[in-house]
Amino acid sequence: MKITTVILAAGKGTRMRSELPKVLHKIANKSLLQHVYELSSQLPNNSIKIVYGHGGELVKNTLSDFNANWVEQKQQLGTGHAVQQVADQIEAQDVVLILYGDVPLLKLTTINQLINLVGPQSIALLTVRLENPTGYGRIVRDIEGNVLKIVEEKDATADEKLITEGNTGILALQGSDLKRWLSQLGNNNAQGEYYLTDVIEMAVKDGFNVNTRVAESEDEVLGVNNRLQLSHLERVYQKAQSEHLMEQGVTLMDPSRFDMRGEVVQLGTDIIIDVNVIFEGNNSIGNNVKIGANTIIKDSIIADDVEILANCIIENAIVGQGSRVGPYARLRPEAVLAEHVHIGNFVEIKKSTIATGSKVNHLSYIGDTTVGSKVNIGAGTITCNYDGVNKFRTIIEDGAFIGSDTQLVAPVTIGKNATIGAGSTITKDSPENQLTLSRSKQISIASWQRPVKKEN
Ligand code: UD1
Ligand code: CA
Repeated sequence: MKITTVILAAGKGTRMRSELPKVLHKIANKSLLQHVYELSSQLPNNSIKIVYGHGGELVKNTLSDFNANWVEQKQQLGTGHAVQQVADQIEAQDVVLILYGDVPLLKLTTINQLINLVGPQSIALLTVRLENPTGYGRIVRDIEGNVLKIVEEKDATADEKLITEGNTGILALQGSDLKRWLSQLGNNNAQGEYYLTDVIEMAVKDGFNVNTRVAESEDEVLGVNNRLQLSHLERVYQKAQSEHLMEQGVTLMDPSRFDMRGEVVQLGTDIIIDVNVIFEGNNSIGNNVKIGANTIIKDSIIADDVEILANCIIENAIVGQGSRVGPYARLRPEAVLAEHVHIGNFVEIKKSTIATGSKVNHLSYIGDTTVGSKVNIGAGTITCNYDGVNKFRTIIEDGAFIGSDTQLVAPVTIGKNATIGAGSTITKDSPENQLTLSRSKQISIASWQRPVKKEN
């Protein structure tokens, strides 16, 4: 069986009050359309068509790596009109699945069930039970419960408006049937639009069964029309992420104050995460890891037994086993810490490797540097790696001790077990095992008089 998924994404989204096309707004840092695309790309043997319109070029360019056909709907004349734009790309024997680009939380099991409800004389429709059905098309059934048609709110009679089973807009049917009915759509209705929903009544007239499945929850099928709904679905999504992590054995001090904007590709056991932690991109977190409050971890690998204290930002970095980072530390891209490294408060590490057991505990900038093992870098050490045009490397060999408030002007090498005196500006290589320092001579002036304020 071949599937064609049509994702409708041409709508304007006026109520977002945004310059950005609606489907580019994000849930968990991923656009609405990408959520739908990623869902549909999990279906085997599937070709994906995206109907775009409003802000089309931007949508297309932003999501250009999608393996999909982009089809333009120049004027938004309704959901039926939108699907008509792809009709000539649909094969008669395909099962066609219609999805909305602004419904991000739909589940794979749901669409699989829907696809399985399609038959030679039946179409499949996803409906939803609603407390307040306002705005939804209503599912009209006969007394035996068979679906007769869908009536849009604006076309509904007072009685029909009382129906609480709503149309999600998501349906699946045979390509040949869809093509036939699409060609018969008219726009003689309250909105003067070509409604895809009219296909249901046509199917019934042709003697088809309308097989329905009721969505698990309203949130699963909720389309985003405004920022309130966007934030609501963000929380729904995050709650599910948190619950998933906890089921896998992670302790979240407050599940409502943890956000996952990406994925954990590997997850150890006995991880404890304090409040207001954000995971972005793809992270891997080992066993017995503790993560302090207000920390952001992005695209990083955190090995076993690591402790990250509060208020750290870690991006594209590797933290080796048993290391301790923070509070208030920043690991920038390509910071690589080996085992048992200590990075303390107000320390920034960029594009540097730090070998086993080394410590950078206070107020330092280490960039483009190779640090050996058992090195101690004193408070306020700065690698001067940039001359305004070029970047240069600093090498600090095993066992070196860098005194506080030192500038290491790269390119420069500090030899094995060398000691650098506090307050030095090191511009030349410093030999191993020796003390090197550059310091102006300290003098005291006995005859000096402190200026005195005149009394008036
Ligand atoms: C539609 C359904 C309604 C259902 C509701 C669920 C129709 C006629 N009505 O109504 O029964 O309860 O969704 O949310 O189908 N779109 C286009 N081109 C267009 C118009 C819409 O691509 O010309 C896209 C939108 O981007 C959106 C989807 O189709 O992703 C639904 O459009 P929307 O305007 O939200 O439909 P509703 O009128 O709410
Ligand atoms: Ca809608």
